[in-house]
Amino acid sequence: MRAERVAVVTGGAGGLGAAIGAHLSASADVVLLADRDVDGARTQADRIDRAQAHELDVADDASVEAFVNDVGERFGRIDVVVNNAAVTAPRELDSLQRETWERVMAVNVWGPTALCRAAAGLWRSTGTGGRVVNITSRTWLSGGPVAYVTSKAGVVGLTRSLALEFAPLGVTVNAVAPSMVATPFTRTGRTEAEYAAFEAKHLAMTPMGRFATPDDIAGAVGFLASPGAGFITGEVLHVCGGAQLAPSP
Ligand SMILES: NC(=O)c1ccc[n+]([C@@H]2O[C@H](COP(=O)([O-])OP(=O)(O)OC[C@H]3O[C@@H](n4cnc5c(N)ncnc54)[C@H](O)[C@@H]3O)[C@@H](O)[C@H]2O)c1
Repeated sequence: MRAERVAVVTGGAGGLGAAIGAHLSASADVVLLADRDVDGARTQADRIDRAQAHELDVADDASVEAFVNDVGERFGRIDVVVNNAAVTAPRELDSLQRETWERVMAVNVWGPTALCRAAAGLWRSTGTGGRVVNITSRTWLSGGPVAYVTSKAGVVGLTRSLALEFAPLGVTVNAVAPSMVATPFTRTGRTEAEYAAFEAKHLAMTPMGRFATPDDIAGAVGFLASPGAGFITGEVLHVCGGAQLAPSP
């Protein structure tokens, strides 16, 4: 099948990835929800027009190469890449294991790097240009769990570097930095009581007085992927209700 507009969302089985996929489906012929959890991606794809699930482990180079080759063969192009897949890790430095650190960096930083590198091969051969939107986090400014936050600051560096590298290809590269969105991601590793305290803390530091929703994040990604954002590159768009202006409590 040849297509006019192909969007890829990594971590498409997750809370934000599915919302981003649904938003992009309004302006795409195909939205590929690519996730290590392919069953979860299938469940989400079944609910979204023009969406398909695809198995992808962004930390595995062979998986990334196979994915991009498959997309190239089936559709001949990639127009939008949303690097959304990520993992987190415990907050405490003392209990942080080197292998945990390396896993977080492999998924959160190397994954987007490898996928962009592979997609650039298509952009060079098709000349279509494209859009990359990397999902970072408000915490790249505030600090927080050391491995996770270091990886998200790395995503900002990657965004700015690839914006320069890909500009001659007509590919913009930007990042979206959400504040807290209630998804399984934010519950990971927390007891009910810890989660309640975490929620209260985040509400208190958000001037607009509510959490971000997946649709808030999807709207920002959709804007950066839209024709109106064609001359914006290397930016970080905070979608935080003002929380990026406040010190962490
Ligand atoms: N939820 C929040 O409050 C919040 C805040 C700021 C930033 N973010 C960022 O938003 C993004 C999405 O978060 P979410 O809340 O939807 O999380 P989530 O855990 O619901 O989804 C993450 C998805 O990534 C997938 N994934 C993990 N490792 C993978 C790999 N190696 N290859 C492919 N897929 C992999 C998981 O299977 C999962 O479906 C992440 O980048 C996260 O850092 C989330």
